[in-house]
Amino acid sequence: MTLFAALRLPREILFGAGQRQALPVVARKLGQRALICTDARLAATEVFAEILAGLRAAGIEVRVDDGVQPDLPRESAARSAGAARDFAPDLVIGIGGGSCLDMAKCVSLLLTHGGALQDYYGEFKVPGPVLPIIAVPTTAGTGSEVTPVAVVGDPERTLKIGISSPYLIPAMALCDPELTWSCPRGLTAIAGADALTHAIEAFTAARKAPDASLAQENVFIGKSALTDQFALYAIRLLGRSLERAVTDGTDSEARADVMMGALAAGCAFGTAGTAAAHAVQYPAGALTDTAHGMGVAAMLPYVMSYNRPAAAPAFAEVGAALGLPATGSTDAQADAAIREVARLFAAIGIAPTLAALGLAPDQLEWTAEQAIGIQRLIKNNPRPIDPAGMRRLVQAAYDGDLAAAAL
Ligand SMILES: NC(=O)c1ccc[n+]([C@@H]2O[C@H](COP(=O)([O-])OP(=O)(O)OC[C@H]3O[C@@H](n4cnc5c(N)ncnc54)[C@H](O)[C@@H]3O)[C@@H](O)[C@H]2O)c1
Ligand SMILES: [Fe+2]
Repeated sequence: MTLFAALRLPREILFGAGQRQALPVVARKLGQRALICTDARLAATEVFAEILAGLRAAGIEVRVDDGVQPDLPRESAARSAGAARDFAPDLVIGIGGGSCLDMAKCVSLLLTHGGALQDYYGEFKVPGPVLPIIAVPTTAGTGSEVTPVAVVGDPERTLKIGISSPYLIPAMALCDPELTWSCPRGLTAIAGADALTHAIEAFTAARKAPDASLAQENVFIGKSALTDQFALYAIRLLGRSLERAVTDGTDSEARADVMMGALAAGCAFGTAGTAAAHAVQYPAGALTDTAHGMGVAAMLPYVMSYNRPAAAPAFAEVGAALGLPATGSTDAQADAAIREVARLFAAIGIAPTLAALGLAPDQLEWTAEQAIGIQRLIKNNPRPIDPAGMRRLVQAAYDGDLAAAAL
């Protein structure tokens, strides 16, 4: 096997309790007129008022747009960019959950290159650099603070759609785990499960032929040497601390582990990409109106089971990173890893099946058809999936039958 790696990351990543206080100094280096994208919840908090006061005290002119809505409707980004034009920001700061960070990416894109978001759907459609973005996450999950993708809701499409371009990677990711302390139990679980799904799907992604065009023609390039390191680190941290952070939200060590796990998982999947669990979530989430993290995590054990024949050694490594003993055959260790992921997700309240997610039996066919159509994710799956295989996988995830998913 040729040693190969590609990695695309922000220019600077800062992580640690209290690091949000560095924001004014960091922002000064990137601009003087900052547009902040956030939501009404965060904008009303004391911690946000402190952040704002810090920026203003450093001489930065700030305008706050607190109109971010969950799942980022396309028109909301167009409105936000339109309203910011007269302010002419030279820096965009996203503070909040993945929706706020993705909004910052979209607004920065529209302010720089004009047009409509639809012009940029897909991969490599952004023509050049965008206004610098500082991403300050308040959930520990999406990894959007380091990834090249913004996920948008489009009223003309049932499924959400991605804009993927290395130009959208924030210039700076500033991760302060204290900002996640206010996340309620359910949000902690769902966001953290999304992060674990990113790490496992990136670590077990298909390995592509590493020719010189691979990273030039694909935003997401599959498994490679450096993304593997970030993915394993993420799996270790989330394995040891996600359940603890959900059970006791005041456990600051567990909160820090989970935020670092989400960040590291973002560093992995931002270049490697994700796979079938994410592909099924797009239609299943649209039909059931359930959170992204809930859907991907509900699917993950079944997708692991489907992929196990093609990636048993990688799943055995996942098991070791989750703290399982490395005893028995590789296949046995891989099976144990799948069972452990299912156990962990059950313990934190993730829906155990697509039925529990709220999908109806007559929606399985459509879900499978749509999922198989999301080629950028399907091509990343370590075991090839054809329409019949996807239909079986979706049925197994509906029935709660891990063994059937492996067929
Ligand atoms: N760009 C990427 O790489 C990427 C990856 C995965 C998911 N996503 C997208 O990210 C979005 C999901 O993001 P998310 O899971 O972070 O949630 P979110 O941004 O949708 O926020 C969910 C809710 O949590 C609240 N919230 C956020 N931080 C909080 C805190 N500290 N305390 C209390 N409440 C808080 C928000 O106000 C909101 O009501 C989806 O739109 C998904 O498609 C993007
Ligand atoms: Fe995700």
